[in-house]
Amino acid sequence: MPSFPTRRSFLKSAAAGSTAIGLNALHYSRVYGANRRLGIASVGTGGKGWSDLNGVAASPDVDVIALCDIDSSAKHLGQAAQKYRSARQYDDWRKLLDDSSDIHGVLVSTPDFMHAPISLAAMHLGKHVFCQKPLTHTVHEARQMRKAAAKFNVTTQMCNQIQSHSAYRTAVHMVHTGMIGKVKEVHSWQGGQPSWPRNIPRPKGSDPVPEHVRWDLWQGVASERPFKLEMYHPFNWRGWQAYGTGQLGDFGCHILDPVFKSLKLTSPTKLTVEAPTLLAESWTDRATVYYEFPGTEYTAEPTLRVTWYDAAGVLPPREKLGDVPANYQLPKAGSVLVGEKGSLVIPHVAMPTIFPEEKFPAKELPVIDGVDHYTQWADACMGNGKTTSHFDYAGPLTETVLLGTIGIRFPGQELAWDADALTITNHAQAQEWVTKPYRKGWEPTWI
Ligand SMILES: NC(=O)c1ccc[n+]([C@@H]2O[C@H](COP(=O)([O-])OP(=O)(O)OC[C@H]3O[C@@H](n4cnc5c(N)ncnc54)[C@H](O)[C@@H]3O)[C@@H](O)[C@H]2O)c1
Repeated sequence: MPSFPTRRSFLKSAAAGSTAIGLNALHYSRVYGANRRLGIASVGTGGKGWSDLNGVAASPDVDVIALCDIDSSAKHLGQAAQKYRSARQYDDWRKLLDDSSDIHGVLVSTPDFMHAPISLAAMHLGKHVFCQKPLTHTVHEARQMRKAAAKFNVTTQMCNQIQSHSAYRTAVHMVHTGMIGKVKEVHSWQGGQPSWPRNIPRPKGSDPVPEHVRWDLWQGVASERPFKLEMYHPFNWRGWQAYGTGQLGDFGCHILDPVFKSLKLTSPTKLTVEAPTLLAESWTDRATVYYEFPGTEYTAEPTLRVTWYDAAGVLPPREKLGDVPANYQLPKAGSVLVGEKGSLVIPHVAMPTIFPEEKFPAKELPVIDGVDHYTQWADACMGNGKTTSHFDYAGPLTETVLLGTIGIRFPGQELAWDADALTITNHAQAQEWVTKPYRKGWEPTWI
């Protein structure tokens, strides 16, 4: 954890010969301001980035120093620039990082495929990082993010913010206090209908790039393609394999999070997927992923089956949900943990319920307060407390989710995973998807 110098101690060490000029980027970036304030930069200020920025800036100790967005229109850079008037403005995150001696932490709220390149570059400069979920676009990137956070000793948080909500914290508490006993199996699902493009080929032709959009910078590490209105930027990039991670990638780091946290899961050892044949470039809108994990202190058996279902209107098979009554209306998205003493329903997002009801009357269930996921990171950057979705946790969670997205490419084929070796040991073609090629000149800085 970086130490927290006062202005006086900083000046004293500078006078002793360790001047600002002599400091390398890592040290320089850790020197907090005169009043112990945290200078932050936001990359991707529209969409979810807007609430990330406001969420972190809600900390009384934070100064918004710089804003970066490839789109200068009102909904993107515009509104942030209007609100944080003294912040420097950029369209290229690389230039922002070149100028970042007064920035201690970087928020990365871009589309999925740019999370790792930006976050890794920031961590190499010693910056703390708050990054959107899923942490990365590939499994290899997730491993690199975890390693970089440890190597550069920076404070990190993935923005699966529901982890800090009372609902998910209560569910984790219920498992940890043994209310449902050891867990025998888990079913997690997202039954909502995605609104982004799916199961379609790449559109033909091109549209003029609006003046306010820097399309080349948007494409970043991905190979170049023509701009098409409302097809990629904003939001709809989710449906394209080159940029997003499909429905599992979009929701897995939320919905599987209380499962991971409560059962202290690490990495699956194998998985099999049921899904229709994937088109070359877009994601599918239905998949079932059967993961097998090594058992933990919270599981009933030496291995644990976790099943993920996503398709519009899908719910897990009722007969597999233990004590959940047949007439109970399951939430559209969530998880059921089937335990030896009861079944825990964790809706996405509402307070959890335990069955059988007569054993667990609703009014007697515990409630754990929520915490602020955003200011938790800002506080932790300044040495106060710790984050709960740091990359040591978020890395393996994201790897698991993204292994499922590899499985979607090879339906019906069991994939055996050796997490230590970062290798799908029984399927050379699937192994190729653990990483990906990068656009020339945009290769990330690996550990
Ligand atoms: N935690 C959550 O609940 C939640 C909710 C929504 C989205 N997300 C995540 O947030 C991220 C962004 O999703 P979104 O829906 O806001 O996408 P979006 O496309 O609507 O917004 C992304 C923003 O980043 C900007 N941007 C894109 N590339 C950039 C680059 N290279 N440099 C600087 N700015 C860039 C865009 O102009 C836009 O302002 C995704 O990773 C997504 O999974 C998380």
